Amino acid sequence: MNLSVDLAGVTLKNPVMTASGTFGSGQEYSEFVDLSRLGAVVTKGVANVPWPGNPVPRIAETYGGMINAIGLQNPGIDVFIKRDIPFLRQYDTRIIVNVCGKTTEDYVEVVERLADEPVDMLEINISCPNVKEGGIAFGQDTKAAEAITRAVKEKAAQPVIMKLSPNVTDIGEMAKAVEAGGADVISLINTITGMKIDIHKRTFAVANKTGGLSGPAVKPVAVRMVYQAAQAVKVPVIGMGGILCAEDALEFILAGASAVSVGTANFHNPYASVEVADGICAYMERYGIEDIRELIGAVR
Ligand SMILES: Cc1cc2nc3c(=O)[nH]c(=O)nc-3n(C[C@H](O)[C@H](O)[C@H](O)COP(=O)(O)O)c2cc1C
Repeated sequence: MNLSVDLAGVTLKNPVMTASGTFGSGQEYSEFVDLSRLGAVVTKGVANVPWPGNPVPRIAETYGGMINAIGLQNPGIDVFIKRDIPFLRQYDTRIIVNVCGKTTEDYVEVVERLADEPVDMLEINISCPNVKEGGIAFGQDTKAAEAITRAVKEKAAQPVIMKLSPNVTDIGEMAKAVEAGGADVISLINTITGMKIDIHKRTFAVANKTGGLSGPAVKPVAVRMVYQAAQAVKVPVIGMGGILCAEDALEFILAGASAVSVGTANFHNPYASVEVADGICAYMERYGIEDIRELIGAVR
């Protein structure tokens, strides 16, 4: 049985990866999960300099999910290169570095710093709704999205995944724009902008007022958008948004995702990513599917 998938020339042993920002660089989770069982680990977003993130509170629970406004807190590329890459290199998994920035120059600087590092792919986050300049300006305008993709691609040594925002009217147009800019792969969805009010304190549940909604509550929106993006472009698509179990992941794969990311689920079940990989295997056995690629985009 073949579970391996190809993303722009990079072979993943299985289609299951972690979603950026929900798994650190794997350090805490390595107590629970053998990272070598994952197709890839996608790191928390890293910028050219350390970012402090937003004021607290930064997270709140919602029905079927959560709202977060972390604000892309990260230690900056220097610490990341010294600390996180050597850690991940101990495992037999692909390393995908999620990159954030405020300006095109910020993104390009991180991409250049990573050029000689042993990482397999770059995921460019142009879709964080929680920081004013967290890339969302790039992620909601087709011209800006195409331009930043082109700027990153010019300097990138590794294949580039462009991570799209669901906070747009036409996801197919955004997917086409980054493909036109040279994106090797597209990933989606990032979180959906939401709000929660604390009625007892009569204030916003997160200090940033708005935050990004994630978890099972967003899954039907995410599956629809992954389907539409996959229909719109030729490059491979990575699907995410509310995946808790293999059945969820299989919906994304059948809708056109070549790989899937497990995010919020990790917070209440640290084994979720490996369980998804095992469950996909069990599904293939049950239905006599020899090759995962038979399932990718099988529902049209
Ligand atoms: C606490 C938290 C932090 C996140 N940080 C990032 C990030 O740094 N970069 C990024 O591209 N996406 C980030 N995301 C978005 C996730 O990677 C993912 O796209 C989204 O949560 C949907 O998947 P899920 O419902 O499985 O969590 C974050 C999500 C959460 C919940």
